Amino acid sequence: MMKLWIVLLLAAFAAGASAQSSCPCASMKWATCDGTPCQCFLLTGSGDKQTLNCDKLIPKCFLMKAEMYRARKGLNTRTGGKPVESAIVDNDGIYDPECENDGKFKAKQCNNTEECWCVNSAGVRRTDKGDKSLKCDKLVETNWIRLQLTHKATAKPVDDTKLKTAIADAINSRYNNFKKDLVDSIEYDPDARMIVVDVKKPKGDRLNDLSNMAYYMEKDVKVLPLFKDTTKFEPNVAGQKLEMENILVFYVDEEPPTFTMKHLSGGIIAVIVVVVLAVVAGLLVLFFARRRQQKQYNKAQQREMDPM
Ligand SMILES: *[C@@H]1O[C@H](CO)[C@@H](O)[C@H](O)[C@H]1NC(C)=O
Repeated sequence: MMKLWIVLLLAAFAAGASAQSSCPCASMKWATCDGTPCQCFLLTGSGDKQTLNCDKLIPKCFLMKAEMYRARKGLNTRTGGKPVESAIVDNDGIYDPECENDGKFKAKQCNNTEECWCVNSAGVRRTDKGDKSLKCDKLVETNWIRLQLTHKATAKPVDDTKLKTAIADAINSRYNNFKKDLVDSIEYDPDARMIVVDVKKPKGDRLNDLSNMAYYMEKDVKVLPLFKDTTKFEPNVAGQKLEMENILVFYVDEEPPTFTMKHLSGGIIAVIVVVVLAVVAGLLVLFFARRRQQKQYNKAQQREMDPM
């Protein structure tokens, strides 16, 4: 009898230990983990507990909620050329998003205010802002992300021929086995020290997600890694480590965004005003010139008729 108990106890221990393989949470340094089997969660929004799967990258929607929570609590969070014409940049920055249970963004976001807008699957605004009655009929998928990286100066020139494999490998090993074949193309401009990485998936692909990886990389370069292990993102190109200095992220959705003229920038408005004024002035000049000609014609006709 005693033996059986010991075997059961040992089995329980073993089960507990195996469930704790990613305890503490490897993919999220702010997570809190406890219990057997190990459960990790993140405090989000106004203090709700979000359960995490630490074997994967944490969905961007949960991460943004956690950042909002941390910003409210005064904990540290973030500091501070388009691939196609329809590409959008995240100019709005952070908001407190609404997430589905699986971590996807809800199509309509309001940041706890009366003002709402529609987002893509990366949580980036893709429409004008409207009021609460705004309709976003579905979450439009981002299927192409351009990561425009600038690296710090290096001792030796960067080996261009090894760059593509090196970057794809670094992305694959760092971001939870991110599929290398989603790394579509890599271009390098040595003078600008700029590496342009395009990650793409076919339209309709709902299995692979590009935005979580892009968000982790954005944090890696701009602030600090989100991982428990805070080693820097430094791809190794032919034995030389590339330290990143800056990153700009462009999002291309399966359907183009629907911004309207309402949000034209001041510069464009100024140009339009000038053009309209010029056209009006031109028309006025034409009109008066015509009238003068008409008058002169009338006078001439009168003179011709006088002698009669
Ligand atoms: C969301 O609301 C917070 C304040 O709660 C504000 O700081 C932030 O700028 C807002 N973000 C957007 C995108 O409106």
